Amino acid sequence: MKISIIGGGGLVGSCAAFALQARDVGREIALLDVNPDTAEGHALDLQHGSPSTANQTFTTGSYEHIPDSDIICITAGLRRQPGESRLDLINRNTELFESILQNIEAVGYQSSAIVLVVSNPVDILTYVATQRLALPTSQIIGLGTQLDTIRFQSFIAQHLACAPKQVDAIILGEHGDSMVPIWSAATVAGLPLDKHPAWKPADAQRIFERTKGSGAEVIKKKGGAGFAVGVAITDVIEAIYHDLKVILPVSSYQNGACYGVRDVAFSVPTVVGKRGVEATLEFELWAKEAQALRNGARVLRQTIDKVIST
Ligand code: 2OP
Repeated sequence: MKISIIGGGGLVGSCAAFALQARDVGREIALLDVNPDTAEGHALDLQHGSPSTANQTFTTGSYEHIPDSDIICITAGLRRQPGESRLDLINRNTELFESILQNIEAVGYQSSAIVLVVSNPVDILTYVATQRLALPTSQIIGLGTQLDTIRFQSFIAQHLACAPKQVDAIILGEHGDSMVPIWSAATVAGLPLDKHPAWKPADAQRIFERTKGSGAEVIKKKGGAGFAVGVAITDVIEAIYHDLKVILPVSSYQNGACYGVRDVAFSVPTVVGKRGVEATLEFELWAKEAQALRNGARVLRQTIDKVIST
């Protein structure tokens, strides 16, 4: 499998490449970037580690890598400045994103190609990609709230001083201010989270607020997230590469089947496999959780109507 990372010379793209190497996902990883030296430096650095990690090749270049790519991961884009919301990024990043899509269309791609959108605002840009690319919407996935979900789980584990891999808790909706924590389904070692002896309900809101603010918190400390984003990207690409059919909170075009949400892209429980979005599942949620999802979708739709000419 060939994976091309547009923006592969940047923090997110290079961290994604390293996570793909560490988990042995993909055979050729192409780093595409407007800064060829940085992309070549990352590719060389990754190659140096390959004998101890995975039998992969790392290449660099530009859109010549797109026609034979199985997965096209778009990470390019400007990062938020401290204090900016992801939606604030819309005007600056949408123009760049549209030009990336035009370049992809111009060189052509496999009919089976899957596009993974990471650039922010990821739900808006995922929707734009479904309108601009001649691919089924099932083959256009946004990273969505997979990153928020693993951050959420990490904070719950920290709070309970338990193994992070034993926490199962999901964030749905927008990768942004209206994201929704699904407390109704949170578990630790398969047991209800709120029955854990160390659980204090009063901490729930603090944990969620810290999750929601994590992007901004990391931006403030180090300019932008990379490692966890690379891990979340690999979670999605691994599901495609191995046809795992796992349920992930990734962003995709909604047709009304889940929670009545339609004509936006955002994260619902999604079965991800070799064909991309294989199904979306409308799990029963608390009424307030479902309503919060619908509210968030409405805000996203209003934003699309305001800023995107479709
Ligand atoms: C984040 O939350 C980059 O949006 C990404 O850090």
